[in-house]
Amino acid sequence: MRAPLVDRFGRVADDLRVSLTDRCNFRCTYCMPAEGLAWLPRSDLLTYEEIERLVGVFLDLGVRTVRLTGGEPLLRRGVEALVSMLAARGVPDLSMTTNGLLLAEKAEALAAAGLRRINVSVDSLLRHRFAEMTRRDALERVLDGLRAAERAGLAPIKLNCVVVRGTNEDEVVDFARFARATGYQVRFIEFMPLDAEEGWSRDRVVPSEEVLAAIGRVYPLVPVDHGPEPARVFCFADGAPGGVGVIASVSEPFCGDCNRIRITADGQFRTCLFALEETDLRRLLRAGADDDQIAGAVREAVARKWAGHRINEADFVRPARSMSMIGG
Ligand code: 5AD
Ligand code: SF4
Repeated sequence: MRAPLVDRFGRVADDLRVSLTDRCNFRCTYCMPAEGLAWLPRSDLLTYEEIERLVGVFLDLGVRTVRLTGGEPLLRRGVEALVSMLAARGVPDLSMTTNGLLLAEKAEALAAAGLRRINVSVDSLLRHRFAEMTRRDALERVLDGLRAAERAGLAPIKLNCVVVRGTNEDEVVDFARFARATGYQVRFIEFMPLDAEEGWSRDRVVPSEEVLAAIGRVYPLVPVDHGPEPARVFCFADGAPGGVGVIASVSEPFCGDCNRIRITADGQFRTCLFALEETDLRRLLRAGADDDQIAGAVREAVARKWAGHRINEADFVRPARSMSMIGG
């Protein structure tokens, strides 16, 4: 076991997101254009063996949580094989964020392979609006996927809902009602300037406080202790099942408590979603670096991690890559 990854602000990086692909079978308007993006050539993607090797080094560096993301991680062929490789490595908390389109087919195999929990993106409960936001008429399939995940025992099920002003903010109470009926936790995420089309503007961000107030007027909420997560989590005061969470990345940045680090699908290490710098772990791997060299490169990058994103500052610069290329 190596010393943990501590940065110069005393934050400990123990939550790793690993993107498996930049490709996606959705085209969410707040993420990518209708025609998609120029996908990475397959030879640029880390292989499962390379991912397993890196995750081993990160576990040694004190990482506890590994979340598989994308793009859409279920598009990676045989992804359940990677899940069992990582589960066998003893990842204490192994989870995935998916858009749910392929979940109905995959949930059981994923759970059997050792996946514990799942987060599914659902931005609308209305068929037409869902189709507008994701550019795919797929709400029913995603809802089937959620039920399959439940049957497979992937619990707790969390929904991610990106709230965009003028698009879906009128549905937050309906989402809370859905949470109460299903027992899911619905997490409302503020729209961040990471969309490839650069359509983000401050007036399209719905502050989390507004979401909580709207829900609280109908279903009073009680805060729940949520540990080191950036989400603020609430349960229903009347004891109904399920809950809601908010991720106020823009209006109330949680950078001061950030414990996250990321690896892109092409093996670049990033210490922040908004980082302007990447560390090329794939090059190290493919040049035959040993674990000490990889751990050393990671430690140096974490030491350089900045205090936080500068979305609310005049000098904010968008990272060159957008959300699906970084990994959500
Ligand atoms: N702002 C906020 N959230 C986003 N996501 C994708 N793009 C954005 C954006 N620009 C979300 C996805 C997914 C999670 C990984 O990130 O909906 O749930
Ligand atoms: Fe795909 Fe997720 Fe981007 Fe939507 S937000 S297009 S599901 S990567």
